[in-house]
Amino acid sequence: MLLMKGSDTPSSEITERKLYLDRRRFLELGAAAVFGVAGSAAAAPLADVVKGKVILDESPTPLEAVTTYNNFYEFGTDKDDPARLAPKTFTPLKPWTVAVEGECARPATLDYLDLIRPNRLEERIYRMRCVEAWSMVIPWVGVPLGEVLKRFEPTSRAKFVEFTTLADPVRMPGVKSRVLEWPYVEGLRIDEAMHPLTLLAVGLYGEELPPQNGAPIRLVVPWKYGFKSAKSIVRIRFVEQAPRSSWMKSAPREYGFYSNVNPKVDHPRWSQGTERRIGEFRRRPTLMFNGYAEQVAALYSGMDLAKDF
Ligand code: MTE
Repeated sequence: MLLMKGSDTPSSEITERKLYLDRRRFLELGAAAVFGVAGSAAAAPLADVVKGKVILDESPTPLEAVTTYNNFYEFGTDKDDPARLAPKTFTPLKPWTVAVEGECARPATLDYLDLIRPNRLEERIYRMRCVEAWSMVIPWVGVPLGEVLKRFEPTSRAKFVEFTTLADPVRMPGVKSRVLEWPYVEGLRIDEAMHPLTLLAVGLYGEELPPQNGAPIRLVVPWKYGFKSAKSIVRIRFVEQAPRSSWMKSAPREYGFYSNVNPKVDHPRWSQGTERRIGEFRRRPTLMFNGYAEQVAALYSGMDLAKDF
């Protein structure tokens, strides 16, 4: 179990968390009623978030902001496009499957229903940081990606992992625009993918992911800029060479492969030294690796992070 440091929990967080836990309890009861299997863990999958926890001593961003201020270019480029359009057009089909292939001994299909099996899901309250210098604190629900990937037995040639997401012009109106090359592709180095902080998320605030947040399966990599956290994943491929992501193709000077949060390396159009937490007015200093340096800095020892940005 990973525990973030800090014990002086501010009262605002206690309130947020109490509301959240009450809501979660309500959901557990509600789901059991819907499925008619009172007390059955299998009937209320996202209620099993108690297995492990990563708590952060910062107030979670209100659910309203987390689900209405989004980047999901498949639904448009404005921050309110995903919340406005995705719930109308994009109700992800269940079961949802992810093809896992490439450099591994056991390529197979990963099933959403398998991912949410009882006692697998964990709650992870993570600080998230976007390249445009805004940040949020989000209580995710998910499974450590490394635990999932191990089952497919990546070979020694699997140096990187490529994530491809759904591009459906019928359900995702933004895919008709050429703002990015579709489908959306992102990549991680294999050790980043296997790192215990990296999460395959299926929910937030104790509920299934809303469509605008990347339902039903998305990546969460809390020490990197938000765009690395690919939404609505349909394929995971183990590869030997670093994948070229959609953002690297669209603006290579602005978006590098690593995209670690780094206050010392500015985006060509923005300073990355400070950030604004959604819901606050003051700017706060950006932390190296978004505050997760203790856990992840070793992954990059010896690298010039200004060059490998
Ligand atoms: N995934 C897909 N498929 N399409 C996108 O446009 N946007 C990225 C990332 N994942 C994006 C995506 C960006 S730029 C950010 S900041 C985060 O999703 C936003 O996640 P959130 O809306 O849940 O906060």
